[in-house]
Amino acid sequence: MSEFRQLIFSGVQPTGNLHLGNYLGALQRFVALQDSYDCIYCVVDMHSLTATLVHDDLMEQTRAIAAAYLACGLDPKKNIIFNQSRVPQHAELAWIFNCVARIGWMNRMTQFKDKAGKDRENASLGLLAYPSLMAADILVYRATHVPVGEDQKQHLELTRDIAQKFNNDFSDRIAALGLGVEMMVGEEKVNGFFPLTEPLIEGPAPRVMSLRDGSKKMSKSDPSDLSRINLLDDADTIARKIKKAKTDPEPLPGDVEGLEGRPEADNLVTIYAALAGTTREQVIADFGGRQFSDFKPALADLAVEKLAPIGEEMRRIAGDPAYIDGVLRDGGERAGAMAEQTMKQVHQIVGLLVN
Ligand code: TYM
Repeated sequence: MSEFRQLIFSGVQPTGNLHLGNYLGALQRFVALQDSYDCIYCVVDMHSLTATLVHDDLMEQTRAIAAAYLACGLDPKKNIIFNQSRVPQHAELAWIFNCVARIGWMNRMTQFKDKAGKDRENASLGLLAYPSLMAADILVYRATHVPVGEDQKQHLELTRDIAQKFNNDFSDRIAALGLGVEMMVGEEKVNGFFPLTEPLIEGPAPRVMSLRDGSKKMSKSDPSDLSRINLLDDADTIARKIKKAKTDPEPLPGDVEGLEGRPEADNLVTIYAALAGTTREQVIADFGGRQFSDFKPALADLAVEKLAPIGEEMRRIAGDPAYIDGVLRDGGERAGAMAEQTMKQVHQIVGLLVN
């Protein structure tokens, strides 16, 4: 009996500007993984319809995320890079998963509660079913690992729940068709069609916080642009935002434990460590006891050195939309062939007559 082939899948929504949180929590990790694994990186354009149906510039935004992938160093030959809507099997599998998942599971999602706000009855059905499409994104490739920031943890737990319920509900048919793959779940060996995908919430900065409020995550939807560093910010803007970042009056502590209860200081030290490719301990060894008036200029220099070239490269690549479309088309064809194969088997398992 074979095992699931290790395969990475992740996605980014084309809404608004990418920021430092997306970079440190996701894109930088994607680049690190491309040398060791087969990876599929998607621009999840259909997800962008869940909160806002009509966009002025969805195609532009989709290309902008693809440009960011390339500018950060993802190789379109080595990886599959494409936009979700090119591969209709994502939506098809999401429908099946809508019939597997329970409404209660969706209602518990904190992201749904946040986005729907008080008027839940008036939220779109798509917003509620969002995690089902996300599970389909991953499982239509039977991907085993998903690098994401911490805010996606709950969605990935739900992806496992959906895979597990599908495997259980259809276990007899999966076995009869010989489509099961052996996997370890804890200590137990089980057989299933879909893997129980592992989240990779790793790296030094899985949760980058707002520069204006250390208790809130850095987010595209924060009304204050000073709360985040956008990947398209120029050098002066990056430096100015770091200079204006909220801090407390104390100097940096002498050890990492001293960052506890100081969320803004903690966040800036974490950002420094992630950008420098070092540890928080090392940053504290270098800057412990120093004032923010010393630390912030060093952080600003580092951020400009690392981020400004990415922004420039994003602009350069965005200037060639035909090239980007070619990359996405090629990636879409490769992804589509894999997704088609999975869906043929899903049709057999579920009993849909499509021959
Ligand atoms: P999205 O587009 O909101 O964010 C893209 C990635 O950036 C990470 N991220 C952060 N990481 C650290 N600190 C932050 N402040 C921060 N803000 C965002 C996110 O965790 C994510 O990894 N639902 C997903 C997109 C998606 C997806 C998928 C991801 C759709 N299908 C399948 C993985 C697999 C989303 O909205 O991410």
